[in-house]
Amino acid sequence: MQMKDAAAHWDSVFETKGSDEVSWFQAEPATSLRLLERWASPEGSVIDIGAGASTLVDCLLKAGWEDVTLLDVSGAALTKVRDRLGGRADGVTFVAADVRSWQPDRTYDAWHDRAVFHFLVEPADSDRYVAMATQTRRSHLVAWLCSQPSPPMGQPNARACRQLATTPTNLCAPSVRPSP
Ligand SMILES: C[S@@+](CC[C@H](N)C(=O)[O-])C[C@H]1O[C@@H](n2cnc3c(N)ncnc32)[C@H](O)[C@@H]1O
Repeated sequence: MQMKDAAAHWDSVFETKGSDEVSWFQAEPATSLRLLERWASPEGSVIDIGAGASTLVDCLLKAGWEDVTLLDVSGAALTKVRDRLGGRADGVTFVAADVRSWQPDRTYDAWHDRAVFHFLVEPADSDRYVAMATQTRRSHLVAWLCSQPSPPMGQPNARACRQLATTPTNLCAPSVRPSP
């Protein structure tokens, strides 16, 4: 999907559906929280790639994280989160960008991705993502890769996916590790 098409597509999803009406909705992002709590610390920084309207940020703020960045190609999703958080949004950095062209200008202790990497079906995009995530995060990458081939998502690039899942400092939810 072209970058401008991706923004329009995702804006339309978030503008027409309630946060709990999307198929990936979870009331509590339990797996993400468990991984972050186990491997990262609220004293550090975290970026949530393709954050959407997830309540992960609410949970992180509640847990005392002060350096939280949310990146999403959909400005509508980020607006939803900002509105939901109200005054609590002051401590959060919002980045409206397509991760395929985004140029990070800092590093993060933890890099979280739930259900975004699998949209990068072009090898050039997934390879760039892996390289950028590796350079940009200081300690752990928490990737919850959803690899079910459900159109229009397609399948993640298997090689890049394997690279993410088998790098020792990466934490990928075991149930979605790509098969060898
Ligand atoms: C399936 S949703 C998951 C949202 C969130 N991570 C969650 O767990 O609820 C995928 C999200 O990735 C975002 N996204 C898709 N492609 C993207 C891209 N190339 N760059 C940045 N965000 C993207 C969408 O806007 C959407 O919010």
